[in-house]
Amino acid sequence: MKTMFSGMQPTGAPHVGNWLGALKNWVGLAKDYDSIFCIVDLHAMTVEYEPALLRERIRNLAAVFLASGLPAPEHCPLFVQSHVQEHTQLAWIFNTVTPMGELGRMTQFKDKAAQHAKNINTGLFTYPLLQAADILLYKGEVVPVGEDQVQHIELARIVARKFNNRFGEFFAEPKEIVTKGSRILGLDGKAKMSKSLGNHIEITEDPDSIRTKLKGAVTDPKRMRRSDPGDPSVCNMFTLHKHFSTPEQQEWAASGCRAAGIGCFDCKKVLADNMIEQLAPIREKALDWIARPKDLDDVLDQGAKACRARAQKTMDGVRALTGL
Ligand code: TRP
Repeated sequence: MKTMFSGMQPTGAPHVGNWLGALKNWVGLAKDYDSIFCIVDLHAMTVEYEPALLRERIRNLAAVFLASGLPAPEHCPLFVQSHVQEHTQLAWIFNTVTPMGELGRMTQFKDKAAQHAKNINTGLFTYPLLQAADILLYKGEVVPVGEDQVQHIELARIVARKFNNRFGEFFAEPKEIVTKGSRILGLDGKAKMSKSLGNHIEITEDPDSIRTKLKGAVTDPKRMRRSDPGDPSVCNMFTLHKHFSTPEQQEWAASGCRAAGIGCFDCKKVLADNMIEQLAPIREKALDWIARPKDLDDVLDQGAKACRARAQKTMDGVRALTGL
């Protein structure tokens, strides 16, 4: 089986956008690969964050991962990046083979540098090298990611090549699997769903809160009155229907909207029911894990142990080649 590696930052409570754009797809792929899932806390440090909240965020993300139906942790390790020290070690070595120009052209760096103009730290700049280390440490062959990460996987290939050219053939070049639904808009209907924009619905959000949030969500802005016909193709609620509703319900929503046969209120009600129903089992399991932090930590320890052994083996090879 090929090795699949993926990582997610513990930057906030995982939301519906993360679920549709990443987790749900990863879980679907996991059983077909030798899969490893990583909570990348070191990457999360590259932007301003609250140290007192980080552990809780790591646990919450781990709980959602476990609740969303990954294969048992014995077959599919889930671990925290900083628990396996080899990640930073290999990242350093990659620093020494990568020209600055390769990192300077990364669009995520440019975007984040613009967003966090007061904190353009070098970690933000070398971020993709730590990501390359995450993958290559386990000789990861496939990496499921959203569209926005494709450039980083391409860079991981460049890094593998640079290392191999300098020290000898060792790393295989990883390939991305671009997951669908990776651009879910938030409740404002404008920007990508994100915790920092507050336009999100958390995976563990309670049903009443889901209803309230959807009631306030932006629809087709041209549809001002109930009697105005709407355009589902510009309505983010309809995009969400495509993920949560049956084909019949989607048809009902689309034609009802176009003909002003139904109002946004009716449309949102069906969406809310479906979303609540589909998130319920994940929410329930995640809350159960969160209530058992010791068990959660045990799973993460077990994951780190398994990954450490694999990482050390890779680093033995790297040390031999580099003369360390
Ligand atoms: N950079 C990724 C993101 O922001 C997270 C990540 C870190 C990752 N290391 C990785 C993804 C390794 C895939 C493989 O989404």
